[in-house]
Order: sequence, then C-alpha cells, then structure tokens
Amino acid sequence: MKVLIVYYSTYGNVYKMAQLVAEGVKEVPGAEPVIRKAHELIPTSVIESREEMKAGRDLQKDVPYVTQDDFRDAGAFAFGTPTRFGNVSSQLKNEIDQLSQLWLKGSFEGKPAGVFVSTGSLHGGQETTALTLMAPLLHLGMVLVGVPYSVQELFTTQGGGSPYGPGHVAGGDNQRPIDENEAAICRALGRRLAQLGLKLEAK
Ligand SMILES: Cc1cc2nc3c(=O)[nH]c(=O)nc-3n(C[C@H](O)[C@H](O)[C@H](O)COP(=O)(O)O)c2cc1C
Repeated sequence: MKVLIVYYSTYGNVYKMAQLVAEGVKEVPGAEPVIRKAHELIPTSVIESREEMKAGRDLQKDVPYVTQDDFRDAGAFAFGTPTRFGNVSSQLKNEIDQLSQLWLKGSFEGKPAGVFVSTGSLHGGQETTALTLMAPLLHLGMVLVGVPYSVQELFTTQGGGSPYGPGHVAGGDNQRPIDENEAAICRALGRRLAQLGLKLEAK
C-alpha cells in the first residue's frame, strides 16, 4: 500500500519533515512511502532574487510534483504545509482544490489522512493550520488520523507537535533544525498512517 506524503515547502523544513514521516511509513511491512511536492505559485523571479528561497528550491529539486495518479493510487495520505498567517499554504491548498474528479468518484472515502505543519514561531499557528487543513480532508471523505499521547514525545516537545499532528518550529530565520522530539512525532504519524491504511484496506 502506498502512503502519499504530499507537501509544500519554501525553505526546506516541511520537506525534511516529509522525509521523517516517510521513515515511519517504512517501518511498517507492506507500506511504501511516496513523497511528492506541490507546484510552486511564487513567481520564479521572486525565488531567484532570494538566496534562502533558492536554497530551499534546490534542496527539493529531485522530488517529483504530485499528480492525480499519485492521489488515486494511495491508500493513506500525509499532507504537509508551512503555516501562512495561521493557515494552510496556497500551494498545498491548490493541489487539494484540483481533486474534485477523484472526490466525485469517492476515491478518498475511508482512507486515513494526517497533517504536519511548520511555523516560524512557537505559538505562530501550528494547531490552527492543522485544524483548517483537516476540513477539506473531511469533505474528501478521508478518515482523520492524529498522534495519540502514547507517543511520549508529545509530553516532552519544546518545539512543535501535538495530537493534531507533527509540528516543527523553524525559527524566524527558518534555520532551526528539527529536534529529536519533533522527529519522533513525524515518524509516529507515518507509522500510524501506514498501519491504519493497511487495516482499512483489508476491509
Ligand atoms: C506569507 C508567510 C506567512 C507566514 N505566517 C506565519 C504565521 O502565521 N505563523 C508563523 O509562526 N510563521 C509564519 N510564517 C513562517 C513560515 O511558517 C516558515 O517560514 C515555515 O514554517 C518554514 O517552512 P519551510 O522551510 O518548509 O518553508 C509565514 C511565512 C510566510 C512567507
């Protein structure tokens, strides 16, 4: 079963989270992570004028863009986004907004989905972003999956991560590394999506 990990990342933090979610998926026999990026909406001229944006883009140059086939073929989904004013990035939402044909066919009904988020600051809107990203996933018929408190790192994290999903605090300069607690919560979501996807698929 494929677990589609679809994300948007300007500076690379959410991309690194996607890789950690994939590590968790790989721990589950029978599950295969598929990492795909959302199409960019920032004009190339703007990216070219900003060194840190160019670095983020170059880091992800080998990641394929997500396609309708990727969405159709997956048995579980992880959606990753940086916070934009406490909400989902337009790049990731743009991909979700193109799913109406698959939605009409009921392609997503009964399939598990989780979300992961990066913010600049500690209280910059991780939970609002996670919750607002969940609304369209419910419309698509997906079964929402969070992170339960049996994942001990939810108690110890000083950065991101909550029952709503993995989180990372990137810092004002976007350079803060993903710490061990944040990484463990990313892996836990990947594992859980893979396990639940396999169970639901078997029905
Ligand atoms: C337009 C814009 C809006 C943002 N809004 C917020 C915000 O509301 N709260 C916050 O903590 N960070 C905010 N940020 C910072 C981003 O969330 C941060 O750069 C991102 O998490 C880094 O992830 P990335 O490296 O994957 O791009 C904003 C950044 C931009 C460009």
